[in-house]
Amino acid sequence: MKINKIIVPPIKSQGIKTKLVPWIMDIVKIANPKGKWIEPFFGTGVVGFNSGFKEAILNDINPHIIQFYRLVQSGDITPQIVKKFLEEEGTKLSKSGDEGYEYFRFVRDRFNESFNPLDLLFLSRTGFNGMMRFSKKGKWNIPFCKKPNRFAQAYVTKITNQVSNISKVICDDWIFMNKGFEEIIPLAKEGDIIYCDPPYYGRYVDYYNGWDEKDEELLFTLLKETKAKFILSTWHHNDWRENDMVKKFWSEFNIVTKDHFYHSGASIENRKTVVEALVCNFDIQKISTHNHSSSKKNSAQLQIPL
Ligand SMILES: C[S@@+](CC[C@H](N)C(=O)[O-])C[C@H]1O[C@@H](n2cnc3c(N)ncnc32)[C@H](O)[C@@H]1O
Repeated sequence: MKINKIIVPPIKSQGIKTKLVPWIMDIVKIANPKGKWIEPFFGTGVVGFNSGFKEAILNDINPHIIQFYRLVQSGDITPQIVKKFLEEEGTKLSKSGDEGYEYFRFVRDRFNESFNPLDLLFLSRTGFNGMMRFSKKGKWNIPFCKKPNRFAQAYVTKITNQVSNISKVICDDWIFMNKGFEEIIPLAKEGDIIYCDPPYYGRYVDYYNGWDEKDEELLFTLLKETKAKFILSTWHHNDWRENDMVKKFWSEFNIVTKDHFYHSGASIENRKTVVEALVCNFDIQKISTHNHSSSKKNSAQLQIPL
């Protein structure tokens, strides 16, 4: 599963794992699964798109993301359609009042009425700092990036290529689902691999990303029971605090950690370096357990002090 070039998806969000894909795929290689890829928290899809599996179950509770990718799979959204759409909408944006804000608001309101997947793409690529957030009523809730010329030709080409790249890796046997994770994990069989990247406990919260201790506990119960192999992404600690959930639920499994810088996030805490963790239910002795400087190197497992 050697990755030459990361396939970057056209949809953006603050929790996107692009930079961590090679690390995650190194662990997948150790698991050596023979079955399918199961991803209950698909998000932008960057991990699944780079997984190289022919069979997959890809799920997210956010219906808009799943609908977008289903339409790419069915051929109803093509690179050509995206190019034409962004060129036309980009021209309207560049000519609109209030330095583009007027047209941004128009598209945002149109999306919040009809949830058109191409409008989702527009908002994802014109929203502040590549963030995705929905209000309590399920409406798009990220302001404009304040760039009226956002859809200059080079940027449209970049996004069109991203759509083209994912359309080449999405297989006919990939199943896109829009359920809660608790309906997806039990679908996994021995030989499959489940990659979980849930909302991080104590970090982001929005309409599709509410996450409390009960959710973490349910996730733990389901992953503990599964016959499949699993990899869970979570945060381990940052300069301010530790993730209590690691000690509470995940310390009985194998854990590897790595420093990671999140470039976007609403609060300063979320934009700083975080020590990311991968929790797995299989042997990972072949790889060095953590790479960050704040703790001893080569310890079998990084312990959170009591
Ligand atoms: C941290 S993001 C995943 C990011 C993804 N790995 C990426 O690189 O883009 C978490 C995702 O979980 C989804 N989600 C939140 N609660 C969920 C639930 N109960 N069941 C399934 N998906 C959920 C959110 O909509 C969000 O897309």
